[in-house]
Amino acid sequence: SGVEQLGNMIAEASSIVPFTGAGISTECGIPDFRSPGGLWTRNRPIPFDEFVASQDARDESWRRRFAMEQTFAAAKPGRGHRALASLYRAGKVPGIITQNIDNLHQASGFKADDVIELHGNTTYGRCIGCGKDYELSWVKQQLDKTGSAPDCADCGDPVKTATISFGQSMPEDAMRRAAELSRHCDLFLAIGSSLVVWPAAGFPMMAKESGARLVIINNEPTDQDDIADLVIRHDIGDTLGPFVGN
Ligand code: OAD
Ligand code: ZN
Repeated sequence: SGVEQLGNMIAEASSIVPFTGAGISTECGIPDFRSPGGLWTRNRPIPFDEFVASQDARDESWRRRFAMEQTFAAAKPGRGHRALASLYRAGKVPGIITQNIDNLHQASGFKADDVIELHGNTTYGRCIGCGKDYELSWVKQQLDKTGSAPDCADCGDPVKTATISFGQSMPEDAMRRAAELSRHCDLFLAIGSSLVVWPAAGFPMMAKESGARLVIINNEPTDQDDIADLVIRHDIGDTLGPFVGN
């Protein structure tokens, strides 16, 4: 079966690079983007230029974020996160590339330095001008006090979640490190992503072109199934859980 084949590929590999999307966190109660009920089926994304230009857009963006606060705060690593963390502890995974912003790979035991976050992190805020970081509790306090989304205390530019919005430039260091990992692994695992958002979706192909085996685990077809060595079209937790005994 596919799972047996995956087990063999993992056993044979010496450098495994996982690449994750929102599908790995749905069992943790966090909705993905494009499945039925996903975030982009409910809300239109707020592009970066709109966030910069409009106080209303900034207020709406923070209103949405705090509406999800219980969801993010309560979420614990799922079976997929735990399985990847166990491969990491075993020394088979030099680093993980993620499009996710939920901090759950760190929570599962990856050192922060070994989690390459392509789309940032939603568990804190960041000034879009000078890059100063803010705790969400500070943002909430300002919102409650003034009724609107706050600006940076240092430079006066808007504070946003530390995530990458459409139209915002990609984090250079993360892009460089993700390319490095993709080019030098022998097994690349694309897990829980529709693989439609670029440039992130370029890494599975980059790994494949550099000679790695490519496995895609996703319960729906993806845009890149045709270049994969193995496609497991199945639930992520059910597929990876047995690797950590559940
Ligand atoms: P998507 O919502 O596009 O894709 C998630 C995929 O995971 C879908 O194909 C689901 O069918 C699948 N899935 C969900 N739960 C699953 C489960 N339990 N088992 C197996 N498969 C499951 O999410 P991403 O590919 O992560 O970026 O989205 C990429 C980017 O688009 C995000 O990082 C975000 C979004 O816009 C930005 O906001 C910049
Ligand atoms: Zn600032």
